[in-house]
Amino acid sequence: MAPSNDWKFTRRDVLKMGAMSVTALAAPRLVTAASEPGATGKPVTAKVALEVNGTPQALELDTRTTLLDALREHMHLTGTKKGCDHGQCGACTVIVDGRRINSCLTLAVMHEGAKVTTIEGLGKPGSLHPMQAAFVKHDGYQCGYCTPGQICSAVAVLDEIKEDIPSHVTGDLTAKARFSRTEVRERMSGNICRCGAYSNIHDAIEEVAGGAA
Ligand code: FES
Ligand code: FES
Repeated sequence: MAPSNDWKFTRRDVLKMGAMSVTALAAPRLVTAASEPGATGKPVTAKVALEVNGTPQALELDTRTTLLDALREHMHLTGTKKGCDHGQCGACTVIVDGRRINSCLTLAVMHEGAKVTTIEGLGKPGSLHPMQAAFVKHDGYQCGYCTPGQICSAVAVLDEIKEDIPSHVTGDLTAKARFSRTEVRERMSGNICRCGAYSNIHDAIEEVAGGAA
């Protein structure tokens, strides 16, 4: 018996059916999105209070605003740099409640009441933080784009070592995490310098660590 032609499809029919099923799958999501708050085109905002470089800041922000954008676009603290905006370069490093973080990877609303220190809060021209002065002395930069993140990270790294917080390369976790080239290299590995000023950056950190010791 010859096969029936009832179920024969052209390539065009198959493509049409595919498009219809994708639309059917997407439809419930579209309905949900349309009924979510903010889907009308109005951003959802929230009040956020932070202390930045010792100054209280009260902001009303789109809840999707990263801490980096809050600093740069809303507080005009443009010392903190946006490199990759994906947590890969460290240019956006700031110190929040004593710990360094990538400000591009966190939302400002998550830091209600936090104390944030940026490069502007570490020191000023004429009264530089010792780490800023050491970077200048040792030429720890070329274009300078990564430098604010490098300096904030370096300041926090020395505090981590002082507080005996181990790193990935700390051999004996019960021993005090001592300052060493390997420790600093590992701890600073999230801060990328496209100009390759690494050895000078290390010399600057080493000098400050030596001074502190
Ligand atoms: S801008 Fe945040 S890690 Fe690159
Ligand atoms: S000084 Fe240019 S990227 Fe580091």
